[in-house]
Amino acid sequence: MIVLGIETSCDETAAAVVDETRRIRSNLVLSQLDQHRPFGGVVPEIAARSHLDHLDSLVARALDEAGVGFDALDGVAATAGPGLIGGVFVGVMTAKAIALARGLPFLAVNHLEGHALTARLTAPPNEDLGFPYLLLQVSGGHCQLVAVEGVGRYRRLGTTIDDAIGEAFDKGAKLLGLPYPGGPALEAAAEGGDPAGFDLPRPMVGRDSLDFSFSGLKTALRHAAVSRGLEGAGAGAPGVADLAAAFHEAVGDVLVDRCRRALARFRDDYGAAGPLVVAGGVAANRYLRGRLQILAEAEGTCLVAPPAKLCTDNAAMIAWAGLERLRLGHRDPLDFAPRPRWPLEETALASAPEPVS
Ligand code: KG4
Ligand code: ZN
Repeated sequence: MIVLGIETSCDETAAAVVDETRRIRSNLVLSQLDQHRPFGGVVPEIAARSHLDHLDSLVARALDEAGVGFDALDGVAATAGPGLIGGVFVGVMTAKAIALARGLPFLAVNHLEGHALTARLTAPPNEDLGFPYLLLQVSGGHCQLVAVEGVGRYRRLGTTIDDAIGEAFDKGAKLLGLPYPGGPALEAAAEGGDPAGFDLPRPMVGRDSLDFSFSGLKTALRHAAVSRGLEGAGAGAPGVADLAAAFHEAVGDVLVDRCRRALARFRDDYGAAGPLVVAGGVAANRYLRGRLQILAEAEGTCLVAPPAKLCTDNAAMIAWAGLERLRLGHRDPLDFAPRPRWPLEETALASAPEPVS
């Protein structure tokens, strides 16, 4: 089984071809960063137009690199939400057109499900990642803990009550005068920094719920930056590395505390603490991966983290999620309406299959 995947929900135009043996035959990501950088964030209209300009040729290149034509495909999958709706439309219409012209199944993939299932694609050969697992989803728009019971079977255990974690990174970076996108810039800026001189809060730590909160940390970061004259200081300015490191430490403490509790809950519900899987753009952060790795080992389980370039947005994860759904007998109608908001819990397959591994 071979599936073409298309991702256009934010600022990356991406196309990929993945097969049932978990081989990523091609995986192309065209970043629009240069077009959005002058505005300090993603401009939806620019994003949608750029997807439109580049997607057709990117799909052709992805097929070419994969060494297959449309005839070899078993399905076409596209991110159908959540995301910036103009871009989502471009991807969905392209996928539907290919599906219609070639008589192929169309798969409307939830972007979050793409992230959630990536670890099953990237697990080493002979080490299949089966269900259930505990997923920490950390991206630009989300921060949630989810029990993944199967394809289309997600149980949310906790979520952020205010800002997404990636948003905290992006806004924190902007505040310190670091370039867009903020997450990787803040990670690079923290290199060699000493967190000891700053006292940032650890929101929600110790609470019984499995929710997150980042707005207080964001505000505390602003106060700390203002009081030390670091607002807009930029990478390399004295003190920026220390504050960036303190921010990482605070976020790390929060994630570790929440995940420790979630693993205990998961053990109660499913009989084993883990495995713990991390997904989404923020999962590319090496410091946070290290903290979660130590936690997982201390809790007697393992951390499964996809390679960094498959943590940030890509189309291989969309092709894979489409393939997982397709092989369970699912396909979507060509009048499927893209969804700007689309919770993971609303991805159930029509006839819920038994969990497979
Ligand atoms: O999953 P993703 O690529 O797009 C969404 O679906 O949101 O996540 C993007 C988010 C951005 O907020 C970006 O700053 C953050 O992931 N990010 C990082 C790193 N790389 C990307 N945050 C911290 N450290 C990183 N290395
Ligand atoms: Zn994403």
